[in-house]
Amino acid sequence: MRNENLDPNALPGEGDELSLRPRFLREFIGQDQLKVNLKVFIEAAKQRSEPIDHLLLYGPPGLGKTTLAHIIANEMGSIIHVTSGPAIERPGDLVGILTNLEEGAILFIDEIHRLSRAVEEYLYPAMEDRKVDIMIGQGPAARSVRMEVPSFTVVGATTRQGLLTGPLRDRFGIISHFQFYDQNSLVEIIKRSATILGYEISQDGAEELGRRSRGTPRIANRLLRRVRDFAQVEGMSSIEKSIVEKATTALDIDYLGLENIDRTLLKLMIERHRGGPVGVETLAASTGEDSQTIEDVYEPYLMQSGLLKRTPRGRCVTDFAYQHLGLTPPPTKKGEERDLFE
Ligand SMILES: Nc1ncnc2c1ncn2[C@@H]1O[C@H](COP(=O)(O)OP(=O)(O)OP(=O)(O)O)[C@@H](O)[C@H]1O
Ligand SMILES: [Mg+2]
Repeated sequence: MRNENLDPNALPGEGDELSLRPRFLREFIGQDQLKVNLKVFIEAAKQRSEPIDHLLLYGPPGLGKTTLAHIIANEMGSIIHVTSGPAIERPGDLVGILTNLEEGAILFIDEIHRLSRAVEEYLYPAMEDRKVDIMIGQGPAARSVRMEVPSFTVVGATTRQGLLTGPLRDRFGIISHFQFYDQNSLVEIIKRSATILGYEISQDGAEELGRRSRGTPRIANRLLRRVRDFAQVEGMSSIEKSIVEKATTALDIDYLGLENIDRTLLKLMIERHRGGPVGVETLAASTGEDSQTIEDVYEPYLMQSGLLKRTPRGRCVTDFAYQHLGLTPPPTKKGEERDLFE
């Protein structure tokens, strides 16, 4: 387990993710509703001198869950311990972590949906009553002893809330759902990151980059760095729209932000499955991608952009997907249409 309090002395430019990561709520751009609520909960907890309630952050990758967990710790003035579902293998590992927490600490559990059931059983009483049961001795002489743990806050992160067991989800007092970022927030994030990286970016350059970032700050920052490379090699002191277009075209990223793999998925569904419905396992097998990656990483944005729909019988592409790929959508048959909108 790492104690990953952000190093306040880290200089801009060193380590990439870290330096671009906002540290306080006021630097965290977008997700306004979530932020407004969180501000109240943090204020209230601080006024009562209590730790903030257990908090579950969920949403697609790269939207700022880890960032927000660290921000909460910074705002609360708490120590944060970082671990993840798969890293806590046995109940004993969890008991070790819990009994060593400082009063008021934050325990950040990334990929919390991957905690084993056995470990979950130990987490419940700790979250509810600040108690853990430890087993002493072995065999018939073994007995369980209840131990107090310091008051603490679990901040759990997951890409899919649906994979969490009901009892675990119920133990979170605050559940925050991350949305894809809107264009204005992305532009603001890109400008902020450009400033930190020491680059100027024009308004239309930032807008173009924002449109191609799939509503995701991590992708916005990654594209910004690649575009900066192109600008630098061409001796440009400022990032203009033209260089954004040039760089993203070179990287095979289209104006909706789709990459090769996204287009391959859509094409496959159209060419081999007449536009769907098709199951995710079939898509996984035909693309060689893992089905969980398809569900977590590619699909949310394809659905958000109106290219893909989930129906009870599987995934279907929309007419917009045909148009985006330069194809003509087939005339809808009555039966299929009803199916699509069920
Ligand atoms: N609201 C924001 N404002 C500015 N930058 C942000 C914001 N949210 C995220 N970022 C940037 O995006 C990067 C990715 O965010 P983060 O690592 O927190 O995502 P995540 O949701 O934890 O992803 P994963 O599910 O893959 O763990 C951060 O390093 C940060 O630079
Ligand atoms: Mg994360």
